[in-house]
Amino acid sequence: MTVHSIALGSLPSSPEQARMWCARLEEGGILYFPETPVSFPAEDLEFLLSRRQTGSKLHKNIAYKPGRDRLSGLGRDESGSEEAGRLQAILRRYSSAVSAFLAGFLTPYGGRWRLDFASYRPIEEKGRDLPLRRRNDLLHTDAFPTRPTRGARILRFFNNINPSQTRNWVVSEPFARLLGAFTPGKLALPRAADPLSRAARHIACATGLGALVPRWKRTPYDEFMMQLHNVMKEDADFQTTCAKEFVEFAPGSSWMVYTETASHAVLSGQYALEQTFLVDPSVMVIPGSAPVAVLEKMAGEKLT
Ligand code: SIN
Ligand code: FE
Repeated sequence: MTVHSIALGSLPSSPEQARMWCARLEEGGILYFPETPVSFPAEDLEFLLSRRQTGSKLHKNIAYKPGRDRLSGLGRDESGSEEAGRLQAILRRYSSAVSAFLAGFLTPYGGRWRLDFASYRPIEEKGRDLPLRRRNDLLHTDAFPTRPTRGARILRFFNNINPSQTRNWVVSEPFARLLGAFTPGKLALPRAADPLSRAARHIACATGLGALVPRWKRTPYDEFMMQLHNVMKEDADFQTTCAKEFVEFAPGSSWMVYTETASHAVLSGQYALEQTFLVDPSVMVIPGSAPVAVLEKMAGEKLT
């Protein structure tokens, strides 16, 4: 079973239990809280749910960058608006509430993560018309096209804030099985970067050229993870024949998962909040469970 349910009454966890939760995550499990451990002001929830859908970027899925305290992707006229200010304040509160909860819950990691973007997802996922590689209703592992993690793991914490509808996912094979299905036949194993491409990457990162051509910022690890994401979505045969487990996340629930290794897709659901953490692979309680470690062992070379 991939989903491990955690009752609020069982918190806080003992140190041994906390290590066990980390281990469940690291081996590809989903930690599920039927009742969210993160509290929101009622007026924040009301505001998020009451907004009508218009053509405005403010009403699309929106990212919040905690480091810069900014919403991304808004037009100039939208970003100064009262609505944007309200949304930013809500996401700021959400981001710090989730961070505080995880600091006390995933104690074995000692806070060795970087706080990445948070997002607000008001769009109904069912029937979205997106280009294939951006579709989230196809099974995939996560990789960020413009923000390579250089080996850090992608831990995502979600809240289904919909008052009445479940958010519906499907999950598939564990990472080792996925690798077996795609490498080396459909996807070559990564190789260490040669000195020339390493130098090119340093220049791209130092000069800002990487912003123009994001691919130049990727280590061999990042490039492989991006390709894996793409080949999974593009493989119609895999999408229909792979093992599947359907998971429903209840209204008011939370869950977290390492999405760079646990293959997942969202089939339907509307109104979610999410916060991403980039976790240092060296603090895993199962040493060697990080995909960078798995791939380096297979390749016999350093990949970051
Ligand atoms: C995804 O990471 O593929 C989307 C998950 C979601 O929005 O529920
Ligand atoms: Fe995803």
